[in-house]
Amino acid sequence: MRVEIYHASKYGNGAEVAGEIGRLLEMRGHEVDVKHIKDVSPRALPQADLYIFGSPGRIGKPIGGMRRFLKNVSPPSGTRYAIFSTEGTPRPDRKGRMPTEEEIARWQRIQPMMDDALQAKGLEKVAAMKFHVTDLKGPLEADWQKKAEEFVGALVNW
Ligand SMILES: Cc1cc2nc3c(=O)[nH]c(=O)nc-3n(C[C@H](O)[C@H](O)[C@H](O)COP(=O)(O)O)c2cc1C
Repeated sequence: MRVEIYHASKYGNGAEVAGEIGRLLEMRGHEVDVKHIKDVSPRALPQADLYIFGSPGRIGKPIGGMRRFLKNVSPPSGTRYAIFSTEGTPRPDRKGRMPTEEEIARWQRIQPMMDDALQAKGLEKVAAMKFHVTDLKGPLEADWQKKAEEFVGALVNW
């Protein structure tokens, strides 16, 4: 299949993830194009069987450039998509208590907002993955390549 991967990486972590996902898909014989959204016109996307969008988090939302990009894309309704985000590793509070999944989901709206924008256009979700960075500008958590493999496995086995 033909896969277009569009990411909005600022510090390079998401770009690294996008490149690895592309590499793994190519290894399986797929035709892949990986691009930063600043190099892509959202209103004139090339045809693809699957679009993958990757965004860093900004105050609980996708970074502004990705929000605008997703507002303007218009693949045919029913086209398949997948998303990934790079987000800060959850940290314990001052009392050493880790936030629950539910608490994290209350303020980390990155993936839900990406889904809302894409599903409003009739696109069909195939998979999603969160990649954690251990500090504001990275690096990625050690398990990121394993997660990339898991993500690609979900993409090609739907
Ligand atoms: C101003 C600012 C706000 C941020 N807000 C969030 C946030 O709300 N949630 C989160 O998980 N990460 C947040 N981050 C960290 C980003 O997740 C991190 O910079 C990004 O994932 C790194 O990916 P990149 O190297 O591809 O840019 C923030 C970073 C900056 C600089």
